[in-house]
Amino acid sequence: PVRYLTNHSTGKMGYAVARACMLRGADVTLLSSTSCTLPDVPFVKKVPFTTAKDLFEAVQAHAMDADALVMAAAVADYRPANVAVDKVKKHDGEMNIALERTDDILAWVGAHKPEKLFVCGFSMETRDLVENSTAKLNKKNMDMIVANNLKVPGAGFGVDTNVVTIITRNGAEQLPLQSKDDVAMAIVDRFA
Ligand code: CTP
Repeated sequence: PVRYLTNHSTGKMGYAVARACMLRGADVTLLSSTSCTLPDVPFVKKVPFTTAKDLFEAVQAHAMDADALVMAAAVADYRPANVAVDKVKKHDGEMNIALERTDDILAWVGAHKPEKLFVCGFSMETRDLVENSTAKLNKKNMDMIVANNLKVPGAGFGVDTNVVTIITRNGAEQLPLQSKDDVAMAIVDRFA
C-alpha cells in the first residue's frame, strides 16, 4: 500500500501518437496509466490501467478488433512476486524483493493477432540500436518498431523531443531530432 516499482516513462509519446491518429480521423482508444498526469486528448476514448497485468487485459480486450496497435508503453518486465497487504516495516540488514516476470504483451499479440492488425512497437536501447531492435521486431512478429537510443541528446523520458529510427522488414530509416508530435505524425504516415 506504500511503495511500488515503476519507471521514468511519462506517456508523452503514446499521447502524441493518439493525437496524431485522432487528427487523421481515426477512431482512437488510448490505454493510459492511472499515474499519467498528461491532459486528455480530445475525441479519444481513454481506458485507464494501473499494472502491467491490467494493461495486458486491456490490450486483449481492445486491440484485437483494431486496424492498428501502437505500443509506446514502457511495460515493466518484472513485478514483485508477493504484494504486501500492510506497510513493509524496516529491519536491520539487507532486504531483497523476489520478482517474477510479467507477460510480454506484444509477444502475445504477435502470436495471436488477426492478419489485418498492424502492430507497431517501441524499443529503447543504450547500444546496438538497430541490431537489438530488429531482433525484437522479428521475435514479437511486429510490422514496425520505433527505436530510440536513450543516450542520444533529445531522446528518451520526459522530454518533448525524440530521435528515432523506424524499422520495418524493408529496412531502417533514421529520422532527425523533432518534437514527439512530429515523430507521431511520421509514424502514422508510415502505416496509414
Ligand atoms: N512490451 C510489452 N510487454 C512487456 C514489455 C514490453 O508489450 N512486458 C512492449 C513495449 O511496449 C514496447 C516493446 O515491447 O513496444 C519493447 O520490447 P522489449 O523487448 O520489451 O524491449 P525492452 O524492454 O527494451 O527489452 P529489454 O528489456 O530486453 O531491452
